[in-house]
Amino acid sequence: MQADLERILFDEATILRRLDEIAAQISNDYRDRELTVIAVLNGSLVFMSDLMRRIPLPLRLDCLSVASYHGRAETTGEVIFKQVALPDVVDRHVLILDDILDSGHTLAFIREKLETAKPRSVRVCVLLQKKKERARLVDADYVGFEIEDEFVVGYGLDFMERYRNLPCIGVLRKELITQTN
Ligand code: IMP
Ligand code: MG
Repeated sequence: MQADLERILFDEATILRRLDEIAAQISNDYRDRELTVIAVLNGSLVFMSDLMRRIPLPLRLDCLSVASYHGRAETTGEVIFKQVALPDVVDRHVLILDDILDSGHTLAFIREKLETAKPRSVRVCVLLQKKKERARLVDADYVGFEIEDEFVVGYGLDFMERYRNLPCIGVLRKELITQTN
């Protein structure tokens, strides 16, 4: 799998060091509040699991399943919920976790939907944020790393459902993306 990478951006130790920092920041910001983490599946699974165990606060976890990529390397802009019921967030302090902020469609959609369910507050935490102009305006409150506008895989992020189990994050070789499209 690692041979399919053009280059590695962040190895496991670097990712975990950064998670220590973000977790400390989140723990401090929510120290007197009960937090509800909402993880966007499947991409944020690995990130959520490592981050959550670094936050020594009482917290609840809910997961949401959405799809926007339909197995391609470009967003279509259309986001669909794969489950019907939204988690109960009335009066809760919600922290949405996602793997990557790219066009912004996914997080803007999720944020809007959750806000209709009357939470007390909503913040967004992403492991990666691409440096680019976004189709939808979304501000992430916590960002692991800023990256260039390249297609990356590993540490939960996939290409056609592969590479999620790579422990590092890297840029996928371009010919692998064009081949399958
Ligand atoms: P957005 O709606 O365009 O912001 O895209 C968000 C979703 O697209 C993320 O949750 C990822 O699942 C996926 N995505 C965006 N960029 C990448 C990438 O570089 N590698 C893998 N998945 C990505
Ligand atoms: Mg995702």
